[in-house]
Parts: sequence; structure tokens; C-alpha cells
Amino acid sequence: MSLETHPAKLDLPPLNLGRHTIETPVILAPMAGITNRAYRRLCRENGGGLFVTEMVTSRALVERSPESLRIIEHDDDEPIRSVQLYGVDPVTVGAAVRLLVEEDRADHIDLNFGCPVPKVTRKGGGAALPWKKDLFKAIVETAVREASKGDVPLTVKMRKGIDADHLTFLDAGRIARDAGVAAVALHGRTANQFYSGHADWDAIAELREALPDVPVLGNGDIWSAEDAVAMVNRTGVDGVVIGRGCQGRPWLFADLQAAFEGSDERKTPALGEVAAAVYRHGELLVETFGGDEIVAMRDIRKHMAWYFKGYVVGSDIRTRLATVPTLEELGRILGELDPESPYPGQDAEGPRGRAGRPKRTALPDGWLDSQELTGVGAEMIKAAEVDVSGG
Ligand SMILES: Cc1cc2nc3c(=O)[nH]c(=O)nc-3n(C[C@H](O)[C@H](O)[C@H](O)COP(=O)(O)O)c2cc1C
Repeated sequence: MSLETHPAKLDLPPLNLGRHTIETPVILAPMAGITNRAYRRLCRENGGGLFVTEMVTSRALVERSPESLRIIEHDDDEPIRSVQLYGVDPVTVGAAVRLLVEEDRADHIDLNFGCPVPKVTRKGGGAALPWKKDLFKAIVETAVREASKGDVPLTVKMRKGIDADHLTFLDAGRIARDAGVAAVALHGRTANQFYSGHADWDAIAELREALPDVPVLGNGDIWSAEDAVAMVNRTGVDGVVIGRGCQGRPWLFADLQAAFEGSDERKTPALGEVAAAVYRHGELLVETFGGDEIVAMRDIRKHMAWYFKGYVVGSDIRTRLATVPTLEELGRILGELDPESPYPGQDAEGPRGRAGRPKRTALPDGWLDSQELTGVGAEMIKAAEVDVSGG
């Protein structure tokens, strides 16, 4: 989005999610493998908003798998401990919400109905699930009921539908609203689209219009503060959810806060500042992973191309960063960069992260024949509660 076509300033009221007020109505999208405790801290230090965990599967959480307990950990100073749950059956989702509420492990819970990964949708989970309206309703109602016992607001995040002929967002939005959710977030793509093409902001506007009585949050293809402002202006949403645009750019939260407060100030970090952020990210990851430097360095490698997108960094250094074995070595390599090398402008902006191609969503046999959960065994739905990552 260009600065000419969209105003750079915005004055949007704070976002109210149940008992919480989020001054800057910006949400770091849940991203498996990305939005762990370390990365949320980096983003949070840059600007206001709500910062959601990676998704955790309800079953794994109820079974208290060590990985699921790691995912829901928050820093002591995270003001709103936000957790995203994935689940496919009301009983397990209800139990997971109860665990979070009774053990005081979350202040906000989001349910993921947007995952397009075949191993999930093939069993009727993720973005395939809202098609079965009765199942969707049962899950959301149960989750809201359990969450309300601790006055914890519950939100849902979804896609437009399975494909252009099987859209679910309007029905699902109404069902969620009637169930008492605190907000509905829409990623303007169908499951078939994966991350390809463009997010449909008109669908987001349509949902905003259809649900005048609950906050609607827009998601998809926000790469800059200007894009966030443009989405709000075009769709009327109450807040924006940003995923890939934050990858390698935690300082986007500073730009977003500035824009939403009506300032034109934007971060244009020189290479030295980027290097400092990467090193700090590495340190925080070591902490997040309980001192395990091997796991931490494995985690940070995927961020390198995003952090250095557009910057003058030689291919040899890029390769070494992408295979960095220790924190000490990370510091050494970053020290070889020219700290004065300036912000590259446009080359550092625009789309980043996952893109991919559209493909037909894998679904259980006969899934599209009915919007009620008939003929599909509950066992299969339970089997969809696999340990999945992302989407
Ligand atoms: C690496 C990656 C992991 C993701 N993991 C999740 C997830 O755990 N839960 C979820 O609801 N969405 C997940 N998503 C989807 C994002 O939350 C978001 O809806 C999507 O990326 C579109 O927003 P964007 O255009 O701002 O990236 C993931 C996306 C990416 C790229």
C-alpha cells in the first residue's frame, strides 16, 4: 500500500476484549514456531498491543505435555497472558479452557479455526471445522462457558471458508457472536488459498457490517503501519491482527503504535540495530528454552532471512547466520556486519514469510455434503486432535 493512497494517521479507540482494554488495537497473530515467549517480548518492548502464544492443542494441554506447557508460559510482566487453543471436540476444548482458567494460566483465550494444514483439515479440523455449524457452535459455546467462569474473554480466529464455494465466515461469525465471544478475527483467505494471493479485505468489511455488536478484527497482508491504517479505513474493523509482517521486524509494533496515535514516526533501523535485536532475540530464546542453546539457535535460524531482508549482508555471512550453532558464534558473526549500513527502504518492506500456492483443501470423505456433523464419526473428529503446528 502506498502512502499516497492511504492516510498515514489514524485515531482508533482502544480495543475492549471483555475486561481488558488494549490501548493500541493491534494483535500479534499466533504463529506456531514464531510467537514464543522470546519473540512476544521483543514485539511487546517495541509497542502496545496484544501478543498471542503459538497455538497449543487442547488434547496436549489437557494431557500436560511438556511442550504444551512450554507454549503457554508467559513472562511475569506480560500484562495480558493470551493463549491460542486448537481443538476439534467440545469436551477436550472445554477441559483445556477449564485448565487455563482454574489454574490462572491465561487472561485471554483465542480459538483457532483457521489452520489449512492437510493433516488437520483431512480430519475435519482447523479451517474445515466451521463448515459443520453444530460442531463449531458446540465448541465455541463450551469454551465461552468455561472461560466466563474466570471472567476470561474468549475470541475466535477463522478464515473465510474452505473455498470460494464453501464460505463459512458469516455464519461462523454470527454463531460465535451469539455464543458470547469477545471478538471475532477474520483472515481474509479461504483454506484453499493457504497463504497465496491477496487477503480479501472486502470480506472483512462484510463481516464487520454483519456483526455490529461485537468487535471484529481484520487479518491478512498487513506489511506496514500504513497497511494497518488502510485496513481500518477500508473495513471499519476494531483492530488488526498481524502475522508475517512482524517476522524479522518486531519494531513494526513501534510503527503501528505511532500510526494509531496519529504520528508519522517510523522505525528505519540501521544494520547495527537489527544485529542488536537478533542477538537479544537469541538470548531470550536461550532463556525461553530453559538454557538449551542448541534448541534456541535452531529456532532463531529461520528468522535470519526476515531480519536481514533488503540489507547489505554478504551471502557468506547469511549462510553462517542461517546455520549458527551457538550464541557466542551468533555474536561473533553479527559483529562482522557494518553497523552503520543504513535501512534499505523499500527492499526491506512488502511481503515476507510464507506464501505458497493455492491447493484443494484435504477433507474427510463427504465432508461438504452436509453442514451438520452427520455420518462422520466422533472418533474421526477426535483423531483430528493431532499434534499440529501452525496455520
Ligand atoms: C509460520 C506461521 C505459523 C502460523 N501459526 C498459526 C497458529 O498457530 N494459529 C493461527 O491461528 N494461525 C497461525 N498462522 C496464521 C497467522 O496467524 C495469520 O492468520 C496469517 O499469517 C495471515 O496473516 P498475515 O498476512 O498478517 O501473515 C500462522 C502463520 C504462519 C506464517
